[in-house]
Amino acid sequence: MIRIFRLKNIISIKDFEREDIEYLLDEASKLENIAKSKEVSEELKGKLLGLMFFEPSTRTKMSFETAMKRLGGECIGFENSGSSSVSKGESIADTAKMFEGYSDALVIRHELEGVSKFISDIVDVPVINAGDGAGQHPTQTLLDLYTIKNEIGYIDNLKIALIGDLKFGRTVHSLSNALGLFDNVKIYLVSPPELRMPQEILHDISKTNIKYVEVDSIEEIIDDVEVLYVTRIQKERFADIEDYLKIKGAYIINKKMLEGKDLIVMHPLPRIDEIADDVDNTKYNKYFTQAANAVPMRMAILKTLIKNNPKQ
Ligand code: CP
Repeated sequence: MIRIFRLKNIISIKDFEREDIEYLLDEASKLENIAKSKEVSEELKGKLLGLMFFEPSTRTKMSFETAMKRLGGECIGFENSGSSSVSKGESIADTAKMFEGYSDALVIRHELEGVSKFISDIVDVPVINAGDGAGQHPTQTLLDLYTIKNEIGYIDNLKIALIGDLKFGRTVHSLSNALGLFDNVKIYLVSPPELRMPQEILHDISKTNIKYVEVDSIEEIIDDVEVLYVTRIQKERFADIEDYLKIKGAYIINKKMLEGKDLIVMHPLPRIDEIADDVDNTKYNKYFTQAANAVPMRMAILKTLIKNNPKQ
C-alpha cells in the first residue's frame, strides 16, 4: 500500500491521522538497519538541523542529533537559553528567525505550552515540538507506538495502563490522543487523585472508541494489560514542593510484582524511583529498547519532513 505523510510540522499528535502515523512506523522500520549498523547514509547530506532546547533533555536531544548524523546531515543549536542571546533579552521570535536562516528544520523544547506552534507560524522550515511544558511530546509518542508495535505486534485492541503523573506528563497526553486513532484500545489510568488525567484529554478520548477507566492501584489492573507505561512525578511542575513530597513514590514497579505476568514495562525516562533497578535485567524491561527506538523513528521524521519540504 502506498502511504502518504501530510504534515509539514509536528506540533501535536492531534494533528495526525492514522495514515500519517503508519507512514512513519513503516519508514522507521526501513531505517532500522542504518540506525543499528552504525552506518551513515547520505539521505540528508548537506542539510542542517536547528536544535533549540530551552528545557533540559538527554534522550530527545541526543537521539535527534544521532538521527540527523546517521542520515548524513549536521546539527547546530543550544541546550539552554543561557548560552544563547535569549539571555540578553532577544525574543524567541527573533531567535527562531535566525535558526530559520541557518537550518532546514527546527526542533524545539520549551517549558511553555504553545511555543512550538507559535514558531511554526512565523518560519517557513518544518518545526518539530520536542516537548512543550505539560502539553504534548508527539515524537515521543511516535517512538512509543513503534515500540508497542515491535514488542506486542499490534496497537489495535491494545490494553495499556498509564501510570503516575497523568496531569503534568506530556507523554501520556500525546499517547492517549494517538491511541484514539486505533481500534478498540483500553486504557487504565492509574494515578493519585491529585495527578489525574486532565479533563481536556478525557474529553478528547471520550470522542474516540477508546475505553478508559480511572483506578487508584496497579494491583487492580496488572493482570489485564499488555503494557505498563510508567511515568515519573514531575517535581519541576509543582508550585508547592510539599504537594510533591506527599505523593512522591506513590507507585513503584518492582520485579516481584511482575513475576508470572505477560506484559512489558515502558517508560519515556528519565526515571526517578518509579521502576526499581531489579526490573532492568528482566524480560519486562522495554524502556531501554524504547529509548533506542528514538533513533530510527526520529530518522524517519527528519527524512520525511526535510525531503517533503525542501528549503526555498
Ligand atoms: N523522554 C524524554 O523526553 O527524555 P528527555 O527529557 O531526556 O529528552
